[in-house]
Amino acid sequence: MDPDDTAVALLHQLAGQVAGCTRCRLAAGRTNVVFGTGDPKANLMFIGEGPGEQEDLQGLPFVGRSGQLLDRLMLEEIGITRSHCYIANMTKCRPPGNRDPMPDEISACRPYLESQLDLIAPKVVVTLGRFASQALLDSTEGITRLRGRVYPYRSGYLVPTFHPSAALRGGGTVVAQMRSDFVRAKEVLLSPARTTAKGAGQHRVSGADSSHA
Ligand code: URA
Repeated sequence: MDPDDTAVALLHQLAGQVAGCTRCRLAAGRTNVVFGTGDPKANLMFIGEGPGEQEDLQGLPFVGRSGQLLDRLMLEEIGITRSHCYIANMTKCRPPGNRDPMPDEISACRPYLESQLDLIAPKVVVTLGRFASQALLDSTEGITRLRGRVYPYRSGYLVPTFHPSAALRGGGTVVAQMRSDFVRAKEVLLSPARTTAKGAGQHRVSGADSSHA
């Protein structure tokens, strides 16, 4: 079997396994596990925080108001729809009342996300909001300081940005910053790969908004 097809089959198998997960307290309150959606061979992966009410009901990530904004920015700044990327969350089950996920819930779910990253092997990961950005970059910096740059990540790149719900609350300035982060993600997507992951070559990792080549 083609290695890509094996990865797709393993991802499907993992989704089945996660559907029955009881590793943390969030399992008790869920309607559906929200494993992730999109192209399992995507070069671009978005990672959010955790499912909200609509996501829990439908079993799909980012299908509420935040998701509508995500879809719009993806289309307008990167020129893709969700079928061209993969979307997942730090936690696969909804924290009750949309509270923040707790550190032990994120830790319990983390191996599933790591396996998704192994199997999808995206060139570019866009982390949406503080939780995903801090966890994947292993940082305690706030999202305002973390965003605006491209980081080396696994064999590719990571582009942190605000969570779309922050943009819904924060208005034009936050949306504009998200747009520039999405453009940054598109640039690295189109650049040569950092290592041999999905291509070859070297890309300069940028340090600030204005200096990214
Ligand atoms: N917020 C998230 O972080 N993820 C979702 O899937 C929906 C809202």
